[in-house]
Amino acid sequence: MRNDVQDYYGKQLQSSDDLQTNACCDQEPPDHLKPLLAQLHDEVVTRYYGCGLVSPEHLDGMRILDLGSGSGRDVYLLSALVGEHGEVVGVDMTDEQLEVARRHQDYHREQFGHSTSNVRFLKGYIEELDTLDLQDGYFDIIISNCVINLSTDKAKVLADVKRLLKPGGEFYFSDVYADRRVPSALVNDPVLYGECLSGALYWNDFINLGKRSGFADPRLVESRRLTIENPAIEKKLGNIRFYSATYRLFNIDELEPACEDYGQAVIYKGTLENCPHAFKLDDHHIIETGKVFPVCGNTWLMLEKSRFAGHFEFIGNFDTHYGIFEDCGLNVPFVDNEDAGAASCC
Ligand SMILES: C[S@@+](CC[C@H](N)C(=O)[O-])C[C@H]1O[C@@H](n2cnc3c(N)ncnc32)[C@H](O)[C@@H]1O
Repeated sequence: MRNDVQDYYGKQLQSSDDLQTNACCDQEPPDHLKPLLAQLHDEVVTRYYGCGLVSPEHLDGMRILDLGSGSGRDVYLLSALVGEHGEVVGVDMTDEQLEVARRHQDYHREQFGHSTSNVRFLKGYIEELDTLDLQDGYFDIIISNCVINLSTDKAKVLADVKRLLKPGGEFYFSDVYADRRVPSALVNDPVLYGECLSGALYWNDFINLGKRSGFADPRLVESRRLTIENPAIEKKLGNIRFYSATYRLFNIDELEPACEDYGQAVIYKGTLENCPHAFKLDDHHIIETGKVFPVCGNTWLMLEKSRFAGHFEFIGNFDTHYGIFEDCGLNVPFVDNEDAGAASCC
C-alpha cells in the first residue's frame, strides 16, 4: 500500500485538480492567515492536499514537526508563524513531494524575512520516526494534515508522536474518519486508499487508539462531513459516511480517562494573538475573555500544563473531588430512588 500511496502522490497527482474526490480538500482559511497564505509559492500551494487547518494558537518560537508534509504548504505557513527563533521540520516519504518542498526553501526564507531558514525536510516514513534525526521530547507541537489515514501502522505513529512531544506539548492534526469500520475490500482499493478515504479509521477506534497510546482525553476541535462528489466512488462506498476532523491530543500524563469535577474554573485573559474575545480549546470549550469558566480536571491540566498557561487565571485545585463533570457528556450511571420507585429491602 505504501508504494501505491507514493506512486499516487509522486506520479499520478500533479495538483489538487487531479484528485478524484473532495476528501483531500480544505475549506476557506481564517482571515488572519490569508496574507501569509498569499505569500506561499504557487507550486507549493498547487500540490497541497490537506483536509483541515493545522494552525493552532500561540506558535511564536515553537518547534513543530509535520508528519507527511507533502509539498510543504503547512510547513511554510507555520515557519512564518513560529518566527525565525522557532523551527519547523517536515517528514515525507515521497521524493517528488520533497523536491517541490525543498526547491522553494530559499524563496520562503526571503518572503518571511528570515536571515536563515527555520525549516528542514526529512525523507522518511511516519511509522519509522525513530530512524530519523529527531530528539525525544523536542517538539512543542506535532501536526499532520490528511496523512494518518494513509498510514499502515497508526499505533506506531502515535507511539512516536508521544515520545517526540515535550511534556505539555500537543499533537494537533486534521484527518479523515469514517462512521464505521471500512470493509477490507475497500481498504485494498488503491484509489480509495490514495484519496484518503478507505484507510480512514472508524472514529471510535481512533479515540480508543489515542487513549491506548497515552493520550487519555482526545479533544475534537472541528469537523465536517465529506461529500465525496464522485458518483462512481460514492457507489463503491455505499452508506459509509466520511468526515474531516481536527483533533488535539495533549501529552500530559496526569490526564484522566474521564472528565472529573474538582470544582475548578479558569479565566481567559484575552491575551492570545487573534483571540481577543474568546479562546477555543475544542468544539465544546469556547472560553470567553474575562468570564469565570467552570472546567473539569482534564481541561484545567490542558491549559495549566501547556503553552497556554500564561493566558489564564486558575481558580481552585485538585483537593476535593465532586464526582463526574456532567457537562462533558458522562453522567452518573445509577438510577436515583425517586426514578426507580420505592426500594424493597432484602
Ligand atoms: C494527502 S497528502 C497530504 C500532504 C500534506 N500534508 C498537505 O497537506 O498537502 C499525503 C502526503 O503524505 C505522504 N505520506 C503518506 N503516507 C506516508 C508515510 N507512511 N510516511 C511518510 N509520508 C507519507 C505522502 O507522500 C503525501 O505527500
